[in-house]
Parts: sequence; structure tokens; C-alpha cells
Amino acid sequence: MQTMFALVWNNEVRKLFCQSQRVMRVIWVAAMVGSLGALVFLVDPDDAQPHRILVDTDADTDDVFALFYLLKQDSTRFDLQAITINANGWSEAGHAINHVYDILFMMGRDDIPVGVGGEGGILPNGTILPNVGGFQPIIDQGMSTAGECRYRQAIPVAQRGRLDVNSNYGLRKAFLPQGSRRYTPLQQPTAQQVMIDAISSGPITVFLMGAHTNFAIFLMSNPHLKKNVKHVYAMGGSVRPNCPKINSSDSSGECSDIGNLYPQDSNPYAEFNIFSDPFAAYKVLHFGIPVTLIPLDATNTIPLSKSFFMEFERRQNTYEAKYSFQALKIIRDTWLSDAFHEQYCMWDSFLVGVALSIIRNSHNLYGENEFAEMQYMNITVVTSNEPYGALDGSNPLITGYSTPRFNVQKNGVHSGHVQMGMQDPFCLQKGKGKCQDGYTKEGTGEDAVRVLVATKAKPNHDNRSILGREFYKSFLHVINSPERTGRFDIRTQYPFHREFLYKPDFGKKIRGKPVVFDMDMSAGDFLALLYLLKLPVELINLKGILISSTGWATPATIDVVYDILHMMARDDIPVGLGEAFAVGQANPSFAAIGDCKYSKAIPHGSGGYLDSDTLYGLARDLPRSPRRVYTLLEDTQAMSMTIAKEMFSLFPQINMQNLTCFLIL
Ligand SMILES: *[C@@H]1O[C@H](CO)[C@@H](O)[C@H](O)[C@H]1NC(C)=O
Ligand SMILES: *[C@@H]1O[C@H](CO)[C@@H](O)[C@H](O)[C@H]1NC(C)=O
Ligand SMILES: *[C@@H]1O[C@H](CO)[C@@H](O)[C@H](O)[C@H]1NC(C)=O
Ligand SMILES: *[C@@H]1O[C@H](CO)[C@@H](O)[C@H](O)[C@H]1NC(C)=O
Ligand SMILES: *[C@@H]1O[C@H](CO)[C@@H](O)[C@H](O)[C@H]1NC(C)=O
Repeated sequence: MQTMFALVWNNEVRKLFCQSQRVMRVIWVAAMVGSLGALVFLVDPDDAQPHRILVDTDADTDDVFALFYLLKQDSTRFDLQAITINANGWSEAGHAINHVYDILFMMGRDDIPVGVGGEGGILPNGTILPNVGGFQPIIDQGMSTAGECRYRQAIPVAQRGRLDVNSNYGLRKAFLPQGSRRYTPLQQPTAQQVMIDAISSGPITVFLMGAHTNFAIFLMSNPHLKKNVKHVYAMGGSVRPNCPKINSSDSSGECSDIGNLYPQDSNPYAEFNIFSDPFAAYKVLHFGIPVTLIPLDATNTIPLSKSFFMEFERRQNTYEAKYSFQALKIIRDTWLSDAFHEQYCMWDSFLVGVALSIIRNSHNLYGENEFAEMQYMNITVVTSNEPYGALDGSNPLITGYSTPRFNVQKNGVHSGHVQMGMQDPFCLQKGKGKCQDGYTKEGTGEDAVRVLVATKAKPNHDNRSILGREFYKSFLHVINSPERTGRFDIRTQYPFHREFLYKPDFGKKIRGKPVVFDMDMSAGDFLALLYLLKLPVELINLKGILISSTGWATPATIDVVYDILHMMARDDIPVGLGEAFAVGQANPSFAAIGDCKYSKAIPHGSGGYLDSDTLYGLARDLPRSPRRVYTLLEDTQAMSMTIAKEMFSLFPQINMQNLTCFLIL
């Protein structure tokens, strides 16, 4: 919506500027804040050829570590063929694609195709049209890319979540070099097309580092290509609680937190990757392709220990090591509790380590590998809650259809209550929530599939080393290896690149009407911003910009605003980031997450977030501003204060009587 209203005061702005005469209150939110047997080849027939690999990722920071670990392998052995972006997890498609392109450029791998998005839909009768973008969990996918946030609302939108991941804590633009690839509207290879191309051209191994949406849609619409998928390795799920065996007051003897959603009062069983699309994970698991799972059971045993962190700090011999360590350091320094070294684990990088080691030892029947202990388990993925066949309107596979979608059974495992967000009254229960959607549950019935599961990270062979796990050693060795290393960072790519703030000198010019501009960062808003910046300062004096991130772009796109101001030599104009949620949508017990009652109307694909987050791909051409998300980051306090300070700096100069506000919606 790109209508411009002059002199419109909506509640937020009135609150901000009128009350501010009495009490200076800032409305930004500190939004809290981020095989059936390892394919038994006694003589591996394609040992001589490289193992072709496809990665599906949501480009979270630990996915980045995993990508580096994989890209640094000898490509005559492990050849990364293609990357697809999982667009309903911890990042936004438009930011994730930029991030992945930057990483591949640094690593000299612009040859690897990257697929993102797609405008296809799923018909009411379950027919999957080509190029579904994977912005929605499969059960909620209709004909458009707009929709509910049933599962994704578990992921924080701003700080501690998607804002951090999309910008990699402001580090992406400060560090990574820039190549020529960019998101191109209408011509961008879609996630499905890239999967089809990579998988149809020969046997391939698939690594799933996010939700299983893209890959499940691929399998459901191209079952004939299943034969080319040798094996699926997935990081996700949580099978057996591995909490200490102490007497618990809970007579069931179960651990209270098997999963890692927060808060746990609706669903204590699910892990994020699986929870983001349980039906997709079920489909992948039950498709008859050998699956190896690296669940929390194993990753919890390989946290980013203090000694590993210190050793990493000491060993940063490559650009990729520097980039990874700097990101890790920011995460540690901004961690909410003192328990970073226990709580932050090697998730996706451990998946890649274990998978490559299993492939190297592919003559072993039981997935023996250097890094993890493995065990076969019979598991399934819970997609709905008992009682089955309940028609309470929560289940989009059943509700409103005479024949349920995707041929699921009317009284089968997919027919129960499906969790409707983190505040679903059916699930909420004090202490321990009762929904199990996304739980990778052990079963004995015929609905359970035999899967190789990593249960524990192996200790370091060298018991004198300070690095307690075998994989710590491998990770640091690989990421610091001088072979296949990153070519440069932004400063070495452009030796004359300086971080300089351009501020105009208006001399004795008489300033015109002071204006504050409130925008939501859709393309039309940028046109309006440029227009305001082009007007003579004697006429319009742009005092500040307020960003509302509840509209057509996501919070991390604030960097595009900074870059435009930089290009226009107006680094003097303060920019403030507003609330992450519309009024009343934040979760009452954990304000970093919340519902999408209104924003669900905005498409995720073309014409929506994907286009505005990248400014139709054009934002890549803007000069990089030294101002960006979290520039002044020093600690948690500073992180919130960065934006707050800029907001405060709006006030002193402003005369409330004759302030003009433009609200661009
Ligand atoms: C689903 O609906 C579409 C369009 O209405 C139709 O072309 C297609 O044949 C249907 N598919 C099935 C399996 O009924
Ligand atoms: C667990 O309970 C048993 C029996 O009540 C008791 O003997 C034992 O000491 C308890 N162990 C711990 C660790 O509290
Ligand atoms: C898994 O199921 C198979 C039969 O489908 C059974 O033979 C095997 O014992 C089960 N394994 C476990 C660990 O339950
Ligand atoms: C380390 O391992 C060696 C050989 O396995 C063993 O003899 C030694 O006792 C171990 N040292 C410690 C401190 O566990
Ligand atoms: C704003 O108001 C003040 C006093 O109310 C006046 O002196 C000043 O000229 C006004 N500025 C503009 C740009 O209208």
C-alpha cells in the first residue's frame, strides 16, 4: 500500500510525538531482543566420482558454518551441486538469497545454482502446481504466497530471531564481498526448479538444514525422481530426552523439555526445523528414501564450549573462519543468559560433519563415523494431536473437504487437532503444554520408520586436547584450511572502501518545514523518500525516518534505507525502527514472538516481502552505508540502544507545533 498521507497522525506517531512533550517515551520495541543402512555398498560403485550434494537451508548462522565446512571439502569427493532456500524458517527469502550469494562469491563458487521462492500454489483438491515457493507449511499452502503463521510464529521476528539472521547481526554487509549475482524478479530460479535440475541429473545426497517444505513438495510432485536421491541427512527433531536421570517429581519420568520451542507451555516436544512444517517432515520420512537424522539428542552433546570458543578465537586463518567467529562472538556477547556455552550448539555444521564421515565410511552398515554415535530407531513425525478424526476446525487437511486433501485418512494420524499457533488454547497447559506437533516420536506401530539417528557426539580421541569432541577438532581444521579458501572480504575486495559518514553542510540556508517520515519500506515508499530528499532543504527539512516493519518489508530491510541515505549523502538523518508486531499481536509471555493477524495478508513472494526486502534486486547496487543494523553493537544493552539513540536524537530539534508527519502506509 503506497498511499501517502500528509499530516496524518496515527496512534503510534501521536503517542510518540505528542506525549513525548510530557514523557519522552520511545515506542521501538526491544523486541527482546534469534537407511536403512548408510546405503550399503560393499564396493561403492561411484567411489571414483564425486558425491553430488544438494543443500536446503534457511541461512541461519549455524547453516553458514555448515556451508563453509562443506564448501571447503575437496570437490572431487564432495561436490555441492545446488542450494535451495527454505523460506518458512529463521530467515526471509530475500535476505537469505543475498547472504548465500555473497558467501558463494567469497568462496569462488558462483557456479552453484541457488533457488528461492516460486509463485505456484496447491489446488483445493491437493494438486501441486509447479514452482511452489515453500513460504507456507504444506498444509496451509493455498494458491498464494500469503498466509497464516501457524508454526512460524514460534520464531522471533526481530531481535533474537529473523532480524539477526537476515543481517547476520549486521556482519554480512560489513564483511562479505560482493559479486554480480542477485535476486532477479521474474527470472530468479525457483527452489523447485533448482531441485528438479540437480536431482534429475544424477544420483544425489540431500542435506536438509531447515524445514522440510521444499523437499517434501519436490518428492510429492516428482515421485519418479525419488530413485536419484541416495540418502537424506536432516538436522532436526528430538527423539529421546537426554536430561540427567534424576528423580523427577513428574511421575511419568519424562523430561520436561524434549524440544526447543520457547515458551514450552504449548508444545514441549518439538524442535524448530521439524515444527516449521511437521507434515512435510512426515512426508520426507515416509517416502521410502533412507534418512539419517541428527536430532537435538546429539547436538545437545556438542555445545559451543568455552574451550572451543577460545581455540576458535585463536585460530582464524581464513576469511571464512573470521566471518564465522565474528558472528559467533556477537551471538555469545548478546546471549540472554550466562549459559551460552551450554545452550548454543553445533547444529547444522555437526550434521554436515557426521554426514560426510558416514559417506566416507559407506561400507559400514550402521553408519559408523568419526563424530557421532549412531543408533537405528523406529520413528514417526507427529502431525496432529489425538483424538483423531476431531473436526474442530484446526485441521486444514480435513476441514471443509468431503475427501481430505492429499488422500490422508479421515481418522488417521493426520486427522487430529493441528496446533494453531503458540497460544492455541487446546495446547496451552500450565507447566507442560500438551501438543506434540513436530515431535519425532519413537513408535512401534506400522507408522514408524526405521531411521539412523545420531545420539551423541563422540569425544576427542586425544584425551589431552582441550577440545573435548572429535568434531570440534575437525571443524577448526577444515574452516582454517588454506585450501579452497575465501578470496577476500569487502575491504580486500575494494581496498579504497572506507566507512565514511556523509553529512551535508547547509551553511546558512534557512531550513524549511521539519518533516518526519514514517515508512514501511515497500518500493513506493523508497520513491517517496527519494522525492523528499530531492526537495530543497529550504522547503522540506527531513528530520528523521521512522520505520514500521509490520508492513510490506521485514525489519532487516532497514539497511536499504541506510544505504539510500548514504547514497544521497544524508547519513545525518536518524532512522528509528518501530515495533515488530501490530498492536496486541505480541505473545504475552514472550514478547519476541507473536501472531500475524494482519501481516498474513502480505504475500511472501513476488510483489511482497521477497521483492521489497531486496528492492526488486536493486538494493545490491546501492553503496554500502557504514550505518546498518547493529552497527554500534557492544553488548545486549548497546544492541537495543543503537536504535533507541537514533530515535531519541529525533526529539530535541523538533518543534511540536509545526511538525509535519508523513505516514506512508
Ligand atoms: C484437481 O483440480 C484441477 C482443477 O480443478 C483438475 O484439473 C485436476 O484434474 C484435479 N485433480 C484431481 C486429482 O482431482
Ligand atoms: C531417587 O529416589 C530413590 C527412592 O526414592 C532414592 O533412594 C534415591 O536416593 C533418589 N536419588 C536421587 C538422586 O535423588
Ligand atoms: C523397528 O521395526 C522393525 C520392524 O519394522 C523391527 O524389526 C525392529 O526391531 C524395530 N526396532 C526398534 C529399535 O524398535
Ligand atoms: C588418555 O588415554 C590413554 C590411552 O587411551 C590412557 O592411557 C590415559 O589414561 C588417558 N588419560 C586420561 C587423563 O584419561
Ligand atoms: C515553527 O514554529 C515556530 C514557533 O512556533 C516558528 O518560530 C518557526 O518559524 C516555525 N517553523 C516553520 C518551519 O514553520
